Amino acid sequence: MSARSTTWVRRAAALVLVVALVAVGVAWWRSQMPGTYSAAAMGRPDFGGGTRFGDHQGGHTGGTSVVDLVDPHRRPDARVELVARAQQVTLPSGQTFDGYTLNGTTPGPTLRFTQGQYVEVVLRNENVAGGTTLHWHGLDVPAAMDGVAGVTQDAVMPGGSFTYRFTVTQSGTFWYHSHQVSHRQVVGGLFGALVIDPVGTTTPAPDAIAVTHNYAGGSRSINGVVGDVSHTASPGQVVRVRVVNTDNSPLGVWVVGAPFRVLAIDGTDLVGPTPLTGTKLLLTAGARADLEVRVPPSGAVRVAMPGASMVVGPKGATAPPAGASPGPTLDLLGYGTPAATGIDATEADRHFRYAIGRLPGFLRGRPGYWWTINGRMGDDVPMFMVRKGDLVVMTISNSSGQAHPMHLHGHHLLVLSRNGVTATGSPWWVDSLHVENGERYEVAFRADNPGVWMDHCHNLPHARDGLMTHLMYEGVQTPFLLGKNSGNEPE
Ligand code: C2O
Ligand code: CU
Repeated sequence: MSARSTTWVRRAAALVLVVALVAVGVAWWRSQMPGTYSAAAMGRPDFGGGTRFGDHQGGHTGGTSVVDLVDPHRRPDARVELVARAQQVTLPSGQTFDGYTLNGTTPGPTLRFTQGQYVEVVLRNENVAGGTTLHWHGLDVPAAMDGVAGVTQDAVMPGGSFTYRFTVTQSGTFWYHSHQVSHRQVVGGLFGALVIDPVGTTTPAPDAIAVTHNYAGGSRSINGVVGDVSHTASPGQVVRVRVVNTDNSPLGVWVVGAPFRVLAIDGTDLVGPTPLTGTKLLLTAGARADLEVRVPPSGAVRVAMPGASMVVGPKGATAPPAGASPGPTLDLLGYGTPAATGIDATEADRHFRYAIGRLPGFLRGRPGYWWTINGRMGDDVPMFMVRKGDLVVMTISNSSGQAHPMHLHGHHLLVLSRNGVTATGSPWWVDSLHVENGERYEVAFRADNPGVWMDHCHNLPHARDGLMTHLMYEGVQTPFLLGKNSGNEPE
């Protein structure tokens, strides 16, 4: 090569390097978020092929504020006070860690209300540095009561309080948890079970609550007890076991010693559930299942999960060992019998695509390999725009290499199909949906609860790492702010 062409090659290489560096610099710069910003101004408005409307970006002026989206006020039928505390927690097993409690325990107290009640829950933050909130996972409460820091309220700082008031319209098994720095506070213990008895129940049917959680250190617990717990029931008795997965990863649950039925998923009863044996149920992060078991004439029945069980039977009765997790997994797509849903997907007003992927890039100025939605990350993800009354179909697909438990606030999703296979069983309504790598779900919901609603992965570190966006109603705005100077950090 002549000296001249060598110089030319060097110059070209230098130019390519400079261009690449500038591109990286621009990507980094663009990924920075301002010190404070509104959730309402996040992302790129996506109207899902439906009617467009004008007031989507910013939404600081005019419109309805989320704080005004409340249920009509009346004298509460039930009132609870919960004190959040950061403290050293000692589990009954002796295991100790720095965590969080509500009224001194983790899980916090089980809240039990009756459908139709207007309830009041006062959250007091004793000393949780950086603030806390409570979100009612699976309850479609009015937006002002959703408990998301920076979206529906400010985080409650130490010494402060917030009063949640709402009418409970659903019944079933739910849970509550912090939605401020949730990837730390929930893992550390700031959560509890929430059970709503159907209206008209005077004596609730016998039930047991099994809240599962892996605390720091990693052993699985049920109701805060590591390993096996027992629930007393007499021979022949039918018990509804309410399993709540409060972890970040999916949970296999199976029953040994008797057949079982899945009565409800995510707080909605299934129609025509049939008895199952030798099958496990996969409960995604944030999800709940009500399992029906009958105590055998002698001995006990075991509701098993990896590393822990609930033994249901007379005091001291033993249940068969958990054994290995059964291979077959119940497919809820074809379980139970079909029934009317009030949803006709052919009449959808909007079709959204929520395609989960993963790409290298910058998220809020940090380089990494981040989750993407429709190929984009950070402030470029779609903001799903709806009008009250819309029927919405959403296609959730996943090519990210990992499974994701997808959770939409304020609404329940009806599963229509998976990988093109139409649902044939009981109507399957979820608020937390397990989407495996390579899967594609079609779901539908009615936009009937105005607000600004998070729509995120419930593997909470994934939400922090970008798998998070919002569903936004026309004409709704929020006065609260996100960003590093806001004091609010919902993920
Ligand atoms: Cu269980 Cu966004 O929450
Ligand atoms: Cu995820």
